[in-house]
Amino acid sequence: MQSPLIIAISGASGSGKSSFTENLFSAFCAQGRPVQVLREDHYYRAQDHLPMEAREKNNYDHPNAFEHELLKAHLQALRNGEPIDYPHYCFKTHTRLPETERLNPAPVIILEGIMLLARPELLPHYDVKIFIDTPLDICLMRRMIRDVKERGRTLESVAKQYESTVKPMYHQFIEPSRFTADVVVTQGGHNQIALDVIKSHIQQALQ
Ligand code: CTP
Repeated sequence: MQSPLIIAISGASGSGKSSFTENLFSAFCAQGRPVQVLREDHYYRAQDHLPMEAREKNNYDHPNAFEHELLKAHLQALRNGEPIDYPHYCFKTHTRLPETERLNPAPVIILEGIMLLARPELLPHYDVKIFIDTPLDICLMRRMIRDVKERGRTLESVAKQYESTVKPMYHQFIEPSRFTADVVVTQGGHNQIALDVIKSHIQQALQ
């Protein structure tokens, strides 16, 4: 099998990475092109050894919160045409579930996550680097709604976490990583022109 095209999509929490990924994924599926999606979130470190109170206080917006060594090994395996078994992460318990998930190699792999462009050693593993650039107030609104609805959080806990880690770490790590991107996408995950441009680049690269 030809080496896959690995596309990294990064940006702030709540910036619309997931929507952009979904839209790209659907476009390739509609063309009958096998594409797989992998999320950096799966690589948050296991914290079974810590009590819940300590897990709740952890900084999840620092690059060290992720097991990037494992992500790197998995990207290499996918490049070599081998399947991977990635960890399954639970945002409610802040740790990994016992079971893993299998992901088979495919001609296009879309990877999405907040710190993907902030680790220089990960950059050579990507063929296309995309940064979703969305105003922070919009990111925060989306995050509040999502974390309360889907991640078992209270409004107060979301606000506290945002002030103490999410916002400062964004400025320290994510915002500077924007300059490593090949393409910066404004207007979030539904920017149709950006989607079309990226789709056509990928189609050409695959020919
Ligand atoms: N996070 C958390 N608790 C954990 C692990 C992670 O609150 N136990 C938070 C981190 O604070 C980080 C966020 O999860 O900021 C990363 O997920 P995010 O990028 O928000 O999710 P996506 O849905 O992938 O992104 P988008 O909203 O851009 O679609």
